[in-house]
Amino acid sequence: MKVAIIMGSASDWGVMKSAVDMLKRFGVDVDLTVASAHRTPQRVHDFVKSSSAQIFIAAAGMAAHLAGVVASLTVKPVIGVPINSEPFKGLDSLLSTVQMPGGVPVATVAVNGAKNAALLAMEILALQDDGLAEQLISYREQMAAEVELNDKRLKEASL
Ligand code: RP5
Repeated sequence: MKVAIIMGSASDWGVMKSAVDMLKRFGVDVDLTVASAHRTPQRVHDFVKSSSAQIFIAAAGMAAHLAGVVASLTVKPVIGVPINSEPFKGLDSLLSTVQMPGGVPVATVAVNGAKNAALLAMEILALQDDGLAEQLISYREQMAAEVELNDKRLKEASL
């Protein structure tokens, strides 16, 4: 198991599916669970302590303490995904996830930044995996080629 994704609620799945899709696309093993820092703290504890994952991605909305709690339980890298939630549109989740006290880091991505969480996790794994690093480089090249293509199409259609 390389990456474990913990969601505070099954309602976070709509956002987090893109992280799972991304990890699968690159052939990275992923484990997925629902465990809430507030509703099931023991479940969070047991999952983290028993997981063989090298990196955790923790996603939660509202008073989003999940990533911080996960980080308190391990010295493996923890990536936090603040989930867009009402009535504050994810600002509450963002601040709860990113504003960790010194000593217990959480690498926080954008609100609903599931895709980047997966990519960041893979960039960390790629430090010791040349094949994965090559895949990430190709992905960047593909994105750049798409920008060039879109630029060409836009000019053809509008000028
Ligand atoms: C958080 O509260 C979850 O991560 C979710 O984003 C939010 C709402 O949870 P539900 O009431 O939809 O289960 O803990």
